Amino acid sequence: MSDKLIIFDTTLRDGEQSPGASMTRDEKVRIAKALERMRVDVIEAGFPIASPGDFESVQAVAEAVKDSRVCALARALDKDIDSAGAALHGANAARIHTFIATSPIHMQMKLRMSPDQVVEQAVKAVKRARQYVDDVEFSPEDAGRSDIDFLCRVIEAVIDAGAQTVNIPDTVGYNLPHQFGSLIRTLRERIPNADKVVFSVHCHNDLGLAVANSLSAVLNGARQVECTINGLGERAGNAALEEIVMAVHTRQDIFSCQTGIDATQIVPCSRLVSGITGFAVQPNKAIVGANAFAHESGIHQDGVLKSRETYEIMRAQDVGWSANRMVLGKHSGRNAFRTRLQELDITLSSDEEVNAAFVRFKELADKKHEIYDEDLQALVTDVNLAAENERIRLVYLKASSETGEMPVADITLWVDGVERKATSRGDGPVDAAFRAIESLVASGTQLTLYSVNAITSGTDSQGEVTVRVEKNGRIVNGQGADTDIVIASAKAYINGLNKIIAPEHRAHPQL
Ligand code: KIV
Ligand code: ZN
Repeated sequence: MSDKLIIFDTTLRDGEQSPGASMTRDEKVRIAKALERMRVDVIEAGFPIASPGDFESVQAVAEAVKDSRVCALARALDKDIDSAGAALHGANAARIHTFIATSPIHMQMKLRMSPDQVVEQAVKAVKRARQYVDDVEFSPEDAGRSDIDFLCRVIEAVIDAGAQTVNIPDTVGYNLPHQFGSLIRTLRERIPNADKVVFSVHCHNDLGLAVANSLSAVLNGARQVECTINGLGERAGNAALEEIVMAVHTRQDIFSCQTGIDATQIVPCSRLVSGITGFAVQPNKAIVGANAFAHESGIHQDGVLKSRETYEIMRAQDVGWSANRMVLGKHSGRNAFRTRLQELDITLSSDEEVNAAFVRFKELADKKHEIYDEDLQALVTDVNLAAENERIRLVYLKASSETGEMPVADITLWVDGVERKATSRGDGPVDAAFRAIESLVASGTQLTLYSVNAITSGTDSQGEVTVRVEKNGRIVNGQGADTDIVIASAKAYINGLNKIIAPEHRAHPQL
């Protein structure tokens, strides 16, 4: 068996299925480049049939990424496979990932198909995908609740049809580690042509077991794990890439395989994904949480000072924590600015965008002496957001609060090209600003989340605000960053409103 564990990242596909985590095409390309830098083997870039926007994003990632394989998802339907094949046309190395459900409940209630029809459609899909690419992956959706005899039958047939990777999804996160590991072992032992493919796993975290289930599968012969940065993904998320990679890396006494991942890119990539999606990382999250390497108790601190290994099983710098360094300042020029953006693989699409970003950089450098990579990422996200043909734009905001008085906000917005002003009071300056915005746009949305995160340490840090707004069942996140958190909040709210009023027609892979 191979000693290489293939890391298949699905942040851009399953990760994007987290409610509110939608990303623009340019944001997806930035994340894909960061994944490539991390030496991820396969990047699942999206589900091209879902919408024209998804198709274009897969196309853009396929063209931008050279070192990782780019994969597109397709149901076992001709139109999905043709769309995936077309979107991947410009890729250096491409894969089509096709799937159909195999559990009794999904076949009867969702697909309304007999087991024979499912096998026939799976085989047809794999053969069609092979007309576009040499590398085809097949997933029996909801394998974790499928009948083992039927799974063996479908998998044997798709291998004969030309699939090279067979991915076993625990779609609803139902399995337990010992059970999932033994499922992989049984499939490998019972399917006669199993040695012709790589077995992969794709675990969801509904019971908090996605990483444990994936690792148990690896111990039983799986050689590809599908995972996402920060464990982003549908419902409770997918297995977290950083946890899988570091568990295999740290416990080489147990695992007889290695990944090819450059772990020093983990923290920068985690920050990029949380900045773009607005999904903050909890402080106690393994590997990438702010406290993951912090020692609070005196006994621990004393032990670590005497010998790091007393309380640390990994080194913070090995997963990229030391990447948080001062890069630019007030006196840095346009060239230094442009060079650092290039080093971070950030490409702005036009000279106007570079100029706008540089102006914002100078404004920021006036307020904040030390500019870190994280500040640059946030600044570019802000410029990208402003460039997205917004119907609502912040022109001016003044918010004042004083002890014993109700805070008040004066705001000026551009709404569909017309300048409009309002003043509102509120329970705090942020509340006052949001009320003033609502008095001008009457969006009819409901605010379901408001969170502020300091991008770097220090009281001069930019505040990064995420809001989640909902209207008629549609949920979007808005983001904004500024050293003034009331302004960051107003930007985030306006960004959310711009997204929710933009039309969106999108199919969901599981429907
Ligand atoms: O969870 C799942 O079953 C999936 C498939 C499309 C692989 O995401
Ligand atoms: Zn999934």
